Amino acid sequence: DSSGFDLYTLSEEHQMLRESIRALAEAKIAPHAAAVDEEARFPQEALDALVAADMHAVHVPEEYGGNGADAVAAAIIVEEVARACASSSLIPAVNKLGSMPVILSGSEDLKRRYLTPLAQGRAMFSYCLSEPDAGSDAAGMKTRAVRDGDTWVLNGVKRWITNAGVSEYYTVMAVTDPDARSKGISAFVVEKSDEGVSFGAPEKKLGIKGSPTREVYFDNVRIPADRIIGEEGTGFATAMKTLDHTRITIGAQAIGIAQGALDYARGYVAERRQFGRPIGDFQGVQFMLADMAMKLEAARQLTYAAAARSERAHRGQKGQDLTFFGAAAKCFASDVAMEITTDAVQLLGGYGYTRDYPLERMMRDAKITQIYEGTNQIQRIVMARNLPQG
Ligand code: CAA
Repeated sequence: DSSGFDLYTLSEEHQMLRESIRALAEAKIAPHAAAVDEEARFPQEALDALVAADMHAVHVPEEYGGNGADAVAAAIIVEEVARACASSSLIPAVNKLGSMPVILSGSEDLKRRYLTPLAQGRAMFSYCLSEPDAGSDAAGMKTRAVRDGDTWVLNGVKRWITNAGVSEYYTVMAVTDPDARSKGISAFVVEKSDEGVSFGAPEKKLGIKGSPTREVYFDNVRIPADRIIGEEGTGFATAMKTLDHTRITIGAQAIGIAQGALDYARGYVAERRQFGRPIGDFQGVQFMLADMAMKLEAARQLTYAAAARSERAHRGQKGQDLTFFGAAAKCFASDVAMEITTDAVQLLGGYGYTRDYPLERMMRDAKITQIYEGTNQIQRIVMARNLPQG
């Protein structure tokens, strides 16, 4: 379609995908969301259902046994799972985050070895960039990788690693030349079963409690030299390029959480009666819903536009301003999700504040989207450095 209108609506395939993943999420994932949060346990039911439906890592190219789904499709899956359960949406989201460095920069052999089990649902992937003293300043990392003959030896600590312990595979950014700052960082694939890999206790978090977040320790982890992703010294650029694509997934997650909250609040105000009528009859409530829906739609359009740019950039089209759009989609959608979920709690009043209703969970889950894959303050730095041409 050369008209350009295809940019502003979803294709029939994408709409059908949304219907099927929504049905799956409602039937198999939503019923466990409250318990997963309450018990802070991994949503195994969600993983099983996503793997059975082949929706756990749709972004893996067909050559490696995946669906080769585009970035808009991957975003829709995360969005619809997040609408039911944010913790569960981190399964497809982090599978993409963790494997994207291999897809973008890995050797053919690495792709075959690590993407195939991911596509088959036999292994999950995590992404190890942050450290206790290197969060926003990712290039200030200390984890070291030293070449020793045909091997690399890794030592250090990574923190805030989503799905750590559950994932089989980890992309790990580590310093290979301490004098070169970001140019002295390289990326590697490390397996959970590699000797010297261990995990900290799960963090006790405000939200996304079903998705384990742990430290990962590397104690003289010796891996074959061919586990390096791309050339030595390119790991930081690969990590940043990855985030350009995957911050869009966080935007999708944010709009999914917000949609779940809006849907619930909308149903509630139609039923809840005060002063002799449903509270949804009051204009003050209507204006709140209107603002929530308006902001959500703006966030969704920006996120899909960014996802389309991610796909075009991935196919080699120049001029996509992906760094700006990835940051903008994540930043805007997550701020909007925080506003919408907070307003949704407000619409339920005291009930919204209790764990008998899902909205306080959605509000707690929304908060992380303003923090991970780069705080929204970092997103503004990234945007300011990469303003689009207009
Ligand atoms: N694409 C390609 N290359 C890039 C790039 C991009 N988007 N961004 C930076 N680079 C390259 C630059 O070109 C630069 O190389 P040159 O000097 O040759 O130009 C090099 O990398 C260093 O870049 P900067 O000088 O911009 O680096 P900086 O130290 O100023 O940091 C930053 C930039 C944007 C602040 C970066 O540190 C950053 O994004 N910080 C936030 C980290 C983050 O998002 N962490 C999230 C962790 S993932 C997560 O949350 C895990 C989870 O489990 C959910």
